Amino acid sequence: MAETNAAVARLDDAEQIEADAGRVSKITEVPVGADWNAVERAMLERRSIRKYKRRQVPPHLIRRMLEMGRYSPSQGNCQPWKFLVVRDAAMIQGMEEYCAGACKKLSTSFDYTTHRAGSLRHFATRAKTRLFNRLQPNMLHPVPMTVATLIAQGRFAVFHRAPTVILLLMDKRGIGTPEIDIGICGTNIVLAAQSFGLGTCWIGFSKLLNQSREWCARLGVEAPYEISEAITVGYPVGDPTRPIARDTHEIVWFEDGKKEILY
Ligand SMILES: Cc1cc2nc3c(=O)[nH]c(=O)nc-3n(C[C@H](O)[C@H](O)[C@H](O)COP(=O)(O)O)c2cc1C
Repeated sequence: MAETNAAVARLDDAEQIEADAGRVSKITEVPVGADWNAVERAMLERRSIRKYKRRQVPPHLIRRMLEMGRYSPSQGNCQPWKFLVVRDAAMIQGMEEYCAGACKKLSTSFDYTTHRAGSLRHFATRAKTRLFNRLQPNMLHPVPMTVATLIAQGRFAVFHRAPTVILLLMDKRGIGTPEIDIGICGTNIVLAAQSFGLGTCWIGFSKLLNQSREWCARLGVEAPYEISEAITVGYPVGDPTRPIARDTHEIVWFEDGKKEILY
């Protein structure tokens, strides 16, 4: 209790110091049940877009999106990112072909369901996949593996034929967990795009390009940087705000010496 009182006293001090300095900061009141504001709406209505119009996005909008990325927080303000913007259709097609080829290898090596049940190949691949799964539990999840097989079969496009692809490069020397900083940076970029009526999709498969010396040289990707993620950008085809299912996770709430479980 004494500690709480001391904390409240410190807070009072902070407000007093502000008042003495003549610059009292405003508290925004948000009433219970208020409509979602513009930022919340952008978050709620954003969907991954996998079908784009042919029309190119004006360059100044891409610049504005990247500016929002540049202003995102990072551990120690280390800003472990670099942006590559690819709007050359032939280059995007080349990246697509490289990643599709890599998915083909991935699928044949690990997706044992693509081999005839009962065959030696099915048995050997399944054993290898199970072993690999133990060593790297989140690498061969069925969702990306299924998508890799669809890409390998030409039934799913890696970059969704988007007119613009932004590659997010990560500086591996970033403080702590630069992967998180990249995630936050990309989220700022994606939400800015949403506010302009643009569609985006994160592309984890873009990491496959790191395996290609030729693509790394062409794109200028070199240590300490690597491709962490990509974001496709374009004008969406169809309704980009359709709702999507989300799980309800319990929220554990501690307040005034009590613990509650909320949903
Ligand atoms: C880091 C990350 C990587 C992703 N990689 C891909 C991808 O390679 N291809 C794809 O079509 N979607 C990809 N997605 C999109 C997810 O599938 C999508 O966010 C999820 O299904 C939820 O749908 P929503 O974005 O419409 O809310 C990725 C999402 C994230 C956050």
